[in-house]
Order: sequence, then C-alpha cells, then structure tokens
Amino acid sequence: MKADIVIIGGAGHIGLPLGILFANKGKSVILYDKDKKNIDKINNSEMPFLEDDGERLLKKNKKKIFATTNKEFIKYARAVIVCIGTPVKNSKPDIKFFFKMFKEVKHLLNPKKPLIIRSSIYPGICLKVQNFLGKKFQNISYCPERVVQGKSIEELPKLPQIISGVSDAAITSAKKIFKLICKKIIVTSVLEAELIKLFSNAWRYINFSASNQFYMICEKYDINFHKLRNNMIDGYDRNKSIPKAGFAAGPCLYKDTAQLNAFLKNEFTLGKVATEINTSFPKIIYKKMLNKYKKGLIKKKIGILGMAFKSDIDDTRDSLSIDLLNYLKSKKLSVNISDHFVNMKGIIKASDLIKKSDIIILV
Ligand SMILES: NC(=O)c1ccc[n+]([C@@H]2O[C@H](COP(=O)([O-])OP(=O)(O)OC[C@H]3O[C@@H](n4cnc5c(N)ncnc54)[C@H](O)[C@@H]3O)[C@@H](O)[C@H]2O)c1
Repeated sequence: MKADIVIIGGAGHIGLPLGILFANKGKSVILYDKDKKNIDKINNSEMPFLEDDGERLLKKNKKKIFATTNKEFIKYARAVIVCIGTPVKNSKPDIKFFFKMFKEVKHLLNPKKPLIIRSSIYPGICLKVQNFLGKKFQNISYCPERVVQGKSIEELPKLPQIISGVSDAAITSAKKIFKLICKKIIVTSVLEAELIKLFSNAWRYINFSASNQFYMICEKYDINFHKLRNNMIDGYDRNKSIPKAGFAAGPCLYKDTAQLNAFLKNEFTLGKVATEINTSFPKIIYKKMLNKYKKGLIKKKIGILGMAFKSDIDDTRDSLSIDLLNYLKSKKLSVNISDHFVNMKGIIKASDLIKKSDIIILV
C-alpha cells in the first residue's frame, strides 16, 4: 500500500487536521497512532474531538485517508510527518517520550525520504534526532505548527509556514509538501524555527499574565478590571492589545514556556513570573470567595461553568478549571461542574448547575 504522506501521531489534535488538509489536496495519507479508539473513530469518518469543519472534510476525503495502529505502514509512505505530543514532566521536557517513538520506528524510516518534525520541541532536538538516526538522514526538517486549537482547517491555509532543515535538500522537500496547503513559506535556521515556535506561545502566555496581574491589583482595590480595561482601550489604540483577564492554560502555552525555561537553564525570568501568575488564578478565585463569605463559604454550593481549557472546545488537557475543581475539593467545598462540550465524570447540565449553585464561577 503506497501513500504520499504518513503522519505519526495522526489521530491527535495537530496530526489529524493536517492529514485531512493534505488529503483534501489530493494526497493519499496514512495516519499512524497508538490510540486505537481514535483510530477506529477516524476510519468510521468520525472526528475524535472538536475541530471546525473537520468532520465534513474527513467524510469528503475518506477514500484518501487510512488510519492505523500498525507502524509497519510507515515504510510505505513517501514522506513522514511527526506530530506526537511533547509533554513536560515536573516543568522539564520529557525528551525520553519523544525519542521512544523514534526508537520504535527507526527501522521503518528511509534516510532519503523527507522526515518532517512538526511537534513543538525543545531547542536542539531536531539535530539530536539526526544524531540518533544517523548522519545518512539528511532529509530532516523542522516545520512548527502555529495554529490555535480547533481552528487548524481554517488557519493552516492562511498562516505562513516556518520551514527549516538540516540540509538544503530537506528544506526543498518540506517546502514542496507545505506549498500544497499553505500560501506563504518562511525559511529559517533550525534553531530559529524552534525558538519562533516557543517564543510565540511564551509571548501569548506572558501577555495573559500581565492582564491577570492587573486583575489581581484591581481585586485588591475593589475595582472591576473588565470595566477598567474597557475604559483603557476606549479611543486609545495603544492599549487595544491588552487581553481580558482569565484562566490561561491548555496543552501548549504553559508547556512551551516551561520548555523555553528549561532550555535557558531556569533563567527565563519573564516566563517564570508569567507561569506563577497564571497558575495561581484558581487560588485567587478561592481567596475572593473566602473574603466575601468567610466561614459561611463551607455551606455554599459552588458551580464551575466551563471545564475545557478554553471556550468552545472539548479539551480539558492542562485546564485550570480542573485545578480549580481539585483545589476547591481539597478545601472540602461542595462543587458542581458543567460544560456543554466536555465528557467527564461529574458533569451536569448547565441549567441544573445554575439551579443548584449559590456561587457560579464562569470559566
Ligand atoms: N494542540 C495544539 O493546538 C497545538 C498547536 C501547535 C503545536 N502543538 C504541538 O503539536 C504536538 C502534538 O500536540 P497535540 O495537541 O496534537 O497532541 P495530541 O495528544 O492530541 O496528539 C498526539 C498524538 O500522538 C499519539 N502518539 C503519542 N506517542 C506516540 C507514538 N510513540 N507513536 C504513535 N503515536 C503516538 C497520541 O496517541 C496522540 O493521538 C505537541 O508537540 C504540541 O505542543 C499543538
């Protein structure tokens, strides 16, 4: 079975929409992944998670997409794209997880075929992959993904694609592949591409933390930050980019800020402060309730409305709502949770949560 592209981690939030877009441009795509449940769903033309327009395009291109848990299929593809997760453990990149995959598939990779790394990696990993596979592997490129989760299908064709590689040949083959789905290509060195990806997420995370700290200052003086922010922005364009305050989390922003801090040997001062501010938000919410209700808080029924890490998504990975829930439970408080998109233990309907709660936390 020949295919144009195989995506390792092809059933994930980044791999699947990418595969769908290549198939939509006429390419035959193999999605290799260890997640059998999601692989079965994809072969049934069902999206395993929310992705705007994903299911329609998956159904439309079902003849060009084959999903499998069998890694042997990797050898039948002309190009390999790696989209597996790059987790952090105790705030440090879990590099072993990434290399475990390469150990598993090394014998199936052909040094002449393009190997594109798309996962968000710790700087220097691309060259480490080349060292691990051997110097014969001159066709390795790093082409980071910069979409916002759930909007890949809409954003990928519009966003410039950063392309870097360990050789000119690697850059040329990656360009050829991404030109199929992206309008603009920007070529950089490998280290620049690795830093562009991490800087992009750290930048967003730091921005959110600035607003979150402003919010905390306002709370101290009993001022409504949302109203204050509107007045700051009104007719004053230099303030327009100030984000709203709120839970800033998810599988990318915190993790990539942590990866950058680990790369800088714990000297990424701004990143560390942003992490401290953003991750402290659940405790701030608790303190706010405690200040208001004092000893009476223990008798209140609390409702958390929104469990995913951001709005209109079904993904709870690294969601601060989960941290908030666990923190409130550790204080022996009675908490109900609701989320229209999320399927997790304890979820109740929003209308029931509203009826049952004395305090509603809108996340
Ligand atoms: N989610 C986003 O919005 C986003 C945006 C930009 C970049 N990224 C980066 O893309 C990468 C993937 O993120 P994601 O959100 O798609 O993660 P994900 O967990 O949704 O998908 C990763 C997939 O890889 C599979 N996998 C893990 N190890 C494997 C192995 N050894 N062999 C085969 N399959 C394996 C998992 O089963 C999973 O389906 C991460 O590095 C992430 O930081 C994510």
